[in-house]
Amino acid sequence: MKTYHFTEPKGLDALEAADLGDPVLGPEDVRVDMRAWSLNYRDLGVPMGGYPRNDKIVRDPPLVPLSDGAGEVVEVGSAVTEFAPGDKVASCFFRDWETGPVREAVLGSALGGGLDGTLAERVVLPQRGWVKAPAHMSHEEAACLPCAAVTAWQGLVAADLCAGQTVLALGTGGVSVLALQMAKVAGARVFITSSSDEKLERARKLGADATINYREHPDWERQVLELTDGVGVDQVIEVGGAGTLEKSILATRVGGTVSLIGILTGVEGAFSSIGAILNAVTLRGIFVGSREMFTAMNRALEVGHVAPPIDRTFSFDSIDEVKGAYEHLRGATHFGKVVIRRA
Ligand SMILES: NC(=O)c1ccc[n+]([C@@H]2O[C@H](COP(=O)([O-])OP(=O)(O)OC[C@H]3O[C@@H](n4cnc5c(N)ncnc54)[C@H](OP(=O)(O)O)[C@@H]3O)[C@@H](O)[C@H]2O)c1
Repeated sequence: MKTYHFTEPKGLDALEAADLGDPVLGPEDVRVDMRAWSLNYRDLGVPMGGYPRNDKIVRDPPLVPLSDGAGEVVEVGSAVTEFAPGDKVASCFFRDWETGPVREAVLGSALGGGLDGTLAERVVLPQRGWVKAPAHMSHEEAACLPCAAVTAWQGLVAADLCAGQTVLALGTGGVSVLALQMAKVAGARVFITSSSDEKLERARKLGADATINYREHPDWERQVLELTDGVGVDQVIEVGGAGTLEKSILATRVGGTVSLIGILTGVEGAFSSIGAILNAVTLRGIFVGSREMFTAMNRALEVGHVAPPIDRTFSFDSIDEVKGAYEHLRGATHFGKVVIRRA
């Protein structure tokens, strides 16, 4: 069985093709013929050492990368009740976070982190590690959901997403574009920022109500306040990290929520906490989500007939193509998701 794995923690050069053999199927297990994968910003950090490397989150190589994949069930164990051969499925980011609040015990079960990931022709996981893909999606589209979409969903829902709310999403990467799409389906008013006017135009086509170029307007939080008559937004999908957090808080209404999701500008930096205190803003850390959240999100995506925008697709068949997918993500010219596909 063809797979790719990182042999050393020294970046993309250490990615190699390998034949690791098909895993044995246990009674609870589901074997999936993988057809598509998507990359997340986190997948750049894991092999480059830019992601916290501790035993809980990322184990040492050799490591099969990626949390996100989709394909078709080809074999199920004797105790499997939820899946049958032929089902279209997607992987769960945390194999062991089925339901309820996050617990320390599940952190080591992140695919492509504490456990081998999905970048293989066939993947075996217990049935709790899979969800049925939304019926209207291709394998490529379903492969975009496990990390970025579930994260955006948890952030939106934890901040009580409802019709009429105002949501701010930063940038046009995977998490933010999916947040835009899902918030629009829920009837929210959505603002989104980008460094690119062309990407902002694409965001408007997906329903963004207002767009701000954060390069042209480094004081974008003021623009957000103007757009809300000085009130601020109900919630922010905060993917920027240290460099944007203070602005996100200032752009949030009294009593609103900032979902702390990303570290695109870095993990460390000074910020003034007074805005969060005086505006009684909730700062909530979000770590992807559970299988239960994934399933609930899929129902919403089916009702809204939403599919993630795929920027570019690369082939699983050649290591140069697979590395090309990583490089494309790193270049950050993408809008939405970067996908690898198997013919
Ligand atoms: N906590 C979690 O569970 C979780 C889950 C998923 C992702 N994340 C994190 O969330 C972040 C986004 O992940 P992703 O996979 O969506 O990344 P991605 O697809 O690689 O997004 C990259 C985009 O982010 C935007 N960006 C970069 N710097 C920015 C800034 N200063 N202000 C606003 N936007 C900026 C750029 O958009 P433009 O080109 O439009 O400017 C860039 O193209 C990453 O830090 C990732 O680690 C966290």
